[in-house]
Amino acid sequence: MEFFFGAATASHQVEGGNHNDWTEWELENTDRLVENAERRAWPDFILRNYPNPLQKENYISGRACDHYHRFREDFDIAKSLGHNAHRFSIEWSRIEPEEGKFDEREIEHYREVLKALRERGLEPFVTVWHWTLPVWIARKGGLLAPEFPEYFARYAETLARAFAGVRFWITVNEPEVVSRRGHLTGDWPPQNKSVFSYRRSLRQLIRAHRLAYVRIKASVPGAEIGIAHKMDYFESGGGFINGFLKWFIDKTVNFNYLDRVRHELDFIGFNYYFHHRIYYGFNKNENKTISDLGWEVYPGGIYHVLLKLRDYGKPIYITENGIADAEDARRAMFIEGHLEWIRKAVKEGVDVRGYFHWSLIDNFEWSSGFWPRFGLVEINYKTLERKVRPSALAYKQIIASWRKE
Ligand code: FCB
Repeated sequence: MEFFFGAATASHQVEGGNHNDWTEWELENTDRLVENAERRAWPDFILRNYPNPLQKENYISGRACDHYHRFREDFDIAKSLGHNAHRFSIEWSRIEPEEGKFDEREIEHYREVLKALRERGLEPFVTVWHWTLPVWIARKGGLLAPEFPEYFARYAETLARAFAGVRFWITVNEPEVVSRRGHLTGDWPPQNKSVFSYRRSLRQLIRAHRLAYVRIKASVPGAEIGIAHKMDYFESGGGFINGFLKWFIDKTVNFNYLDRVRHELDFIGFNYYFHHRIYYGFNKNENKTISDLGWEVYPGGIYHVLLKLRDYGKPIYITENGIADAEDARRAMFIEGHLEWIRKAVKEGVDVRGYFHWSLIDNFEWSSGFWPRFGLVEINYKTLERKVRPSALAYKQIIASWRKE
């Protein structure tokens, strides 16, 4: 069976020119985000770049990478890097800018995107929703609006009908993360801070996925439908208490959502970024290697989570895995390390069928803005010029060597 290798993006982070709940939030929160950044010490190599965390432009998605107009150029690069698949998301606020009114021109735009992918031999993995909401839904309460699951399903059905040739569908990106940060920790829109709204938003996303699953299947019978679920590797530092904490956190953060939708899943999309060593508290990691964002690089964790996922008996795609590394000093090693552990899991019978690196191009990293550089391809935000990073070529070589085996 063919293994899919590619990279992932999300509409709001790369397209530019969007108008959704996030763009409004960005404008309201820029000053606060700059003030927060001023309280921290930043390394020179970050401050040398444009935009950097002390500049307002950093926090406003604006024209982003202008991928909306340059997608062909970006897919040319993906193809030249040996990719045979690409994960991207459709921007709900473009498709349904007003309640129940679907924009034919924008549907046509994404038809062009899909056509461009196919022409380059890139299998599309379509994310229905990667976190940004049309403003009209946000005004009605966003995820908490009673009608949210129905709105979501209607939107998903519209996409399925319009793009019936698409085989791989991802309904929701990282439901637990978007619920937690928007509704519990409150650092993202709509900035709620309550256990009640966190739990309710998760329940809404469970209903939304289930309904969308049924509707997409009805329109595209051959569709394979999954979610992109962030799962961290929680490691117990030993002893009963740490073991119990690990079990509890695993159950709530990693497996709760997955278990609730497991009967409406054709595959599991797994986003891997984090390892937490639990030793009478959270995150007692050794942090031997960290990213520019301070996230620990811990490739072995992907293997441990994959072994757990084997029990679900479904195909698995790594739908995201990547590192903020402006100097591109660690990315090649990062990719190689994770793919080695994936290979080990495959040898032990885990049904992994694809790997999507986050991300194809540098992009707008939510409330952190543009400064974290996740791309295989560097973006010059002044000129929008694209430059392939050496690590992208290292990834290309790894792809070639897997194909030979
Ligand atoms: C994931 C998100 C993605 C990107 C990466 C770095 O949690 O799905 O949009 O921000 O983190």
